[in-house]
Amino acid sequence: MKSNFFSEFIKERKTVGAVLPSSKFLAAKMLKGIDFKKNQNIIELGPGTGIFTKEIIKKMSPKSNLISIELNKSFYKQLSHKFKGNAQFTPVLGSADNISNIIKEQNINSVDVIISSLPLAVIPLRIKAGIFREVKKVLKEDGSFIQFQYSLNAKEILNKRFSSVNITFTPVNIPPAFVYHCLK
Ligand SMILES: C[S@@+](CC[C@H](N)C(=O)[O-])C[C@H]1O[C@@H](n2cnc3c(N)ncnc32)[C@H](O)[C@@H]1O
Repeated sequence: MKSNFFSEFIKERKTVGAVLPSSKFLAAKMLKGIDFKKNQNIIELGPGTGIFTKEIIKKMSPKSNLISIELNKSFYKQLSHKFKGNAQFTPVLGSADNISNIIKEQNINSVDVIISSLPLAVIPLRIKAGIFREVKKVLKEDGSFIQFQYSLNAKEILNKRFSSVNITFTPVNIPPAFVYHCLK
């Protein structure tokens, strides 16, 4: 799993954005505060090899559903295989700047939570702007957007787009990471 992640990083440096999958500690920080007892439409952006996906699937209520959107074909195939047969989970090979069309195809109109691992630091501004337009378009009024990054560089762009941004930090990840919990 780790060697596959590293080889994808070498091939797709600009989009994979990390040398290793995230830690379980980071996964716990990302998911802290989500009310998993509620039935929810959940979207994951950039699931990679599925570190967060696995935890979301474990925690979500029986009537919730998860759509994980991944740009990298090799990761998408791995995810599809790993969680095969889970009726609450839909892996999609696609890009985060196309969320509204992707959820429409799954007969979903709006989303409660978006959990993003997108490497914002390496995504060009124009594409990033398109992604955030989509995120705001599909999120419910009381919906939340959760993002991790290896620096505080995303603070400005997220503060501009969300009504509130709460930042926490975990040193137990390679590299250490900041988690941004944003409200629409
Ligand atoms: C830093 S890795 C995180 C992987 C995994 N979630 C983890 O934490 O270990 C970023 C992931 O985002 C994916 N990605 C990059 N740009 C994307 C886009 N526009 N749409 C969907 N996924 C994208 C990459 O292929 C990669 O799997």
